[in-house]
Amino acid sequence: MRSSVSLTDLIVNPTPLVLAEEVSRSVGCEVWVKRDDQTHPRYGGNKVRKLAPLLADARGRGVTHVLTLGAAGSHHVLATAVHARAMGLTVEAALAPQPSSAHVEEMLRASAEQASVLHPCGSVPSAMLALGLRSLALRAKGARPMIIPVGGSNALGSSGYLDAQFELAAQLASMGVPSPDVQVCALGSGGTLAGLLAGRALAGALGDVWGVRVTPPIAVPSWRIASLARAILRRRRSTVALPPVRVFEGALGRGYGCPTDDARRATELFARDGLVLDDTYTAKAAAGLIALARRTPRRYLFWQTLSSAPAGALLGSADAPLPPRLRSLLR
Ligand SMILES: Cc1ncc(COP(=O)(O)O)c(C=O)c1O
Repeated sequence: MRSSVSLTDLIVNPTPLVLAEEVSRSVGCEVWVKRDDQTHPRYGGNKVRKLAPLLADARGRGVTHVLTLGAAGSHHVLATAVHARAMGLTVEAALAPQPSSAHVEEMLRASAEQASVLHPCGSVPSAMLALGLRSLALRAKGARPMIIPVGGSNALGSSGYLDAQFELAAQLASMGVPSPDVQVCALGSGGTLAGLLAGRALAGALGDVWGVRVTPPIAVPSWRIASLARAILRRRRSTVALPPVRVFEGALGRGYGCPTDDARRATELFARDGLVLDDTYTAKAAAGLIALARRTPRRYLFWQTLSSAPAGALLGSADAPLPPRLRSLLR
């Protein structure tokens, strides 16, 4: 049975904007943090802003099943499982292997608890194929499946970050805080950065927007981000010029999900301001911000995109061993 709760209504809007005093002191310039870890009390982070328009669309089209994919510890898969399920939808996700860590394992356990079905796959391309086949099989049975791409990063989902720029502009004005010179976010599937760029194009003087790359460049080249940002603007019937796509390339280390020393140091520094980062996305984004700020001290804004909602409530029986078919995804 469908719930009448709308995800859009539940977004903590606006998310808090705070000065990170210890980080600012350490890097020698102001670093503000947009607390998108608090987009939702049950499970927050950047995925909620993308899922709000995607799930509203699913509801409008009478979708019965949401199919999506990601790495084993994907925040997007978990967020989709939590929020689509709360709307009464069946959620199936195809998962690709990822380097193991305590956080990645926790996310996988939570996804296993929250999603209806998880399909372990050998790679992202085979996960895409598995979803396509599953969608055909569901349609043949009369169901109405919808595929949400990696990270929820199509034009509709990423438009949530266009709206976030207007939220930020209004918040800066009401708090009497000057606009940032530089905004920084993690660049994974690219939807967050593309949405922020599109929003920056429409909302005006909010500084340069940088993405810190946490996946290999071949996965999401800069031209793809620009083309996604243009598609987001087209949805809003805008032909305004796009700001340049700026990407910090020095934080990836040995690859997606592989920890780096700079990211570990960033995690320790941000923890002094009470901010919890993860190895795969936000710690590398923070390391990129620190490098940029030490090179060019200006007023920075960090998009804190990792949910800070307690994971315990999503975990079910934490002591139960992970089934071998899921454990094999942790490398
Ligand atoms: C915590 C976190 N931050 C940032 C990102 C990157 O966002 P995007 O995929 O829109 O580039 C992700 C992506 O999964 C994420 O999980």
